Amino acid sequence: MNTVLLIILIILGIPVLLLLNLITVVKLVRKIYPFPIPQFMTEFIDNPVRRKYWQKPDQIAQRTGAFPGAVVVEVGPGKGSYTKAVAKRIGSEGIVYAIDIQQSILDRLQERLDKAEIKNIIPKLDDAYDLDFENNSVDIIFAITCLPEIPEPVKVLKEFRRILKPGGTISFCELFLDPDYPFRRTEKKWAFEAGLVLKEEFGNWFSYQLNFSKE
Ligand SMILES: C[S@@+](CC[C@H](N)C(=O)[O-])C[C@H]1O[C@@H](n2cnc3c(N)ncnc32)[C@H](O)[C@@H]1O
Repeated sequence: MNTVLLIILIILGIPVLLLLNLITVVKLVRKIYPFPIPQFMTEFIDNPVRRKYWQKPDQIAQRTGAFPGAVVVEVGPGKGSYTKAVAKRIGSEGIVYAIDIQQSILDRLQERLDKAEIKNIIPKLDDAYDLDFENNSVDIIFAITCLPEIPEPVKVLKEFRRILKPGGTISFCELFLDPDYPFRRTEKKWAFEAGLVLKEEFGNWFSYQLNFSKE
């Protein structure tokens, strides 16, 4: 009996250990040489298991507080699953600007939007450090497994604070399997340093979402 249990543990344990090792190696490489995730990887990380069990697009969109007519900015849209869930909630009166520093990601997203005939998402080449938006002009800013990838998160958060309307929401969602995963307290520390106030928090250590405001 004990031998059978041991074999089952080994069979189940090996893939988990391999995955954790891989995440650790990627983490180390990214610490030494930070680089934005390439376009082909966004296809891989936005997969059905993640969307069904770990980071459900509809649930995340609902937690951002997206409402009909809202002006929204998403940084790092990837394949656009979360972008589309938010766009559905804000309706045709609202708009989501999906911004990224990589044109290849935006081009692929635009192809998908054209196919699905979605008109209220605008892919836009822009840099989170210096956003092309007026002060106090955006209702909701969100980023899914994206902020910790950017080398100077506090600088980005100050920029988010600048463009956010009073009463607006900045929402982040993180996943433990992301090589850049920060602990909840780390992300809160960044936000507080940028002058943001915690509004709501959801989820658990494996996947959490934090909402901030600027007053
Ligand atoms: C991990 S991916 C986002 C994945 C996607 N949100 C998802 O959940 O599937 C992070 C994205 O942030 C973008 N990015 C990195 N630095 C940026 C910056 N300074 N401004 C805008 N986008 C940036 C990268 O190009 C990359 O596409």
